[in-house]
Amino acid sequence: MNWLRRLFAKPQANDDRDTTQSNAYDLIGGDKVIRAIAHDFYQQMQTRPETQSLLAIHRSPIADSEQKLYEFLSGWLGGPQLYQQKHGHPALRARHMPFAIDESMRDQWLICMRAAIEKSIKKPEHQQVIIQAISTLADNMRNR
Ligand code: HEM
Repeated sequence: MNWLRRLFAKPQANDDRDTTQSNAYDLIGGDKVIRAIAHDFYQQMQTRPETQSLLAIHRSPIADSEQKLYEFLSGWLGGPQLYQQKHGHPALRARHMPFAIDESMRDQWLICMRAAIEKSIKKPEHQQVIIQAISTLADNMRNR
């Protein structure tokens, strides 16, 4: 599936994506949709009773966490590498080490992300591929 391969295609230059190809970022609607996903993700976390222990381990203001998630997702989906430009290599697993992430935390995270994706990405086949890929990433964040 070309679209799936392109989801993880490396940008051609250090910071610029390959503008000759459409990729996941373009197909799902670009910047606006990514911002909406990051925003809705944290809305979900703040309003769902079952995700309150995940909310509780956050130390930064939610707006800052939302901004970082937005920047990361932009690059991860093949758009501008906003996170890397501002904060350096994502090294996500290392950055999550200070937080105790077990299956329950992972599942709470995925509940919020799945809901945000289903709300903002129109096509079910696009939702499915991204949910699958991000579930693998989330499982890799477990450190307990
Ligand atoms: C699987 C369970 C996960 C848990 C429990 C979790 C939890 C957290 C927490 C508590 C923070 C710190 C926020 C703060 O400073 O207040 C954080 C930061 C972050 N998370 Fe996660 N996370 C998970 C998975 C993921 C995944 C899969 C991604 C990527 C799609 C991600 C992306 C980020 C980013 C980009 C940051 C900001 C890192 C930084 O620069 O400090 N997280 N996460």
